[in-house]
Amino acid sequence: MLRKRGCCCSEEGCSSEKKLKAVGKESGNEILNGITNGVAHDRTKEETVLARRKLIASEANDLALQIADTVTGNTEHICVEGAYHGNLRSLLQLSTYKDTPMGLHSIVAPLPDVYNGKYKDPDNAGMLYAGEVKKLIDKASSNEKRISCFIMESLFSCAGQIIPPKGYLQAVYKYVHDAGGLCIADEVQVGFGRVGKYFWGFELQDVVPDIVTIGKPMGNGHPVAGVITTPEIAKRFSLTGVSYFNTYGGNPVSMAIAQAVLTVIKEENLQQHANSLGEYLLHSLLELQAKYPTHIGDVRGVGFFIGLEIVKDRKSREPDSQLATRIITRMLREHRVIMSVDGTNNNVIKFKPPMCFDKENADYLLECLEECFDNQENM
Ligand SMILES: Cc1ncc(COP(=O)(O)O)c(C=O)c1O
Repeated sequence: MLRKRGCCCSEEGCSSEKKLKAVGKESGNEILNGITNGVAHDRTKEETVLARRKLIASEANDLALQIADTVTGNTEHICVEGAYHGNLRSLLQLSTYKDTPMGLHSIVAPLPDVYNGKYKDPDNAGMLYAGEVKKLIDKASSNEKRISCFIMESLFSCAGQIIPPKGYLQAVYKYVHDAGGLCIADEVQVGFGRVGKYFWGFELQDVVPDIVTIGKPMGNGHPVAGVITTPEIAKRFSLTGVSYFNTYGGNPVSMAIAQAVLTVIKEENLQQHANSLGEYLLHSLLELQAKYPTHIGDVRGVGFFIGLEIVKDRKSREPDSQLATRIITRMLREHRVIMSVDGTNNNVIKFKPPMCFDKENADYLLECLEECFDNQENM
């Protein structure tokens, strides 16, 4: 939201901003110029920023793949259609989100989309989509290919704000483990309380991943990312002798900032806030759908992770990418609200506001959206 200025929160001088400024002042100046690498002293500000930006979530996912390959001794990665996991070569070759001339080097499972996908009955879609993953694993093993890992965002953001159907991950994780692979949950967009009810997105599916990758919200704008795994997998990885080091890994500035973010999330009950305000937003968007039934095909979401699927008409569910784009363009130009459109058909308007997004912001957003739908013929 662009209505107010401040840090990446909406409130100027809010306590999160003050805490982060304090960390920046105390740790940033002292630690960055002093302790980190010892070379920070004679760097220009620009060079230092560039160097710190190397700590990105793409590296976390790349490391997760390395760990899976090394520990299992297998080579095949299973990814889900439309997913995005980062911009390193290893990840571009893994996902179908961006076309890459380097080609796809992964096994791509169908997106478990109950609105526009192959299986639409929410009661059995989870098992049916998981069955598709099983078929792919069986096909790979009949070709002598062994599964290293299955990687998935716990809720699909780039693929169109898709909430996986009930039971999907439990079944998939079992098939992958039976085949000797590891399960990686990419929580780069959805972790840190965004889904409201839980701190991590995978908890919605009642599973425990072998590896979890984190980034973006971890630093509230500061570049910091991480890989979490079990002590056993970490030990097996280190015993292989493959060494992993990173010049800026674990640097005190980033760690202090990540710690401050955790403190703010806890002290300001931001997870509970995402839960209650997310419910209000979802409910209000369903009312908007009832008012504009032709073009709002689906409203889905949890916490501060909501999608509005824009269609030509509700019956055919034919995606209307142009209308979705016109709406977000008007939202920006007329109302100064930044939103984005994504999904495999580029027709899903995404809602992923900052955690400090408040009721006033939500009402403003809803008012502006209503204005856009009212004026859709003139856009
Ligand atoms: C789900 C997901 N994983 C990984 C990444 C990569 O993060 P970064 O751009 O910090 O490398 C992104 C970035 O958008 C993402 O959305």
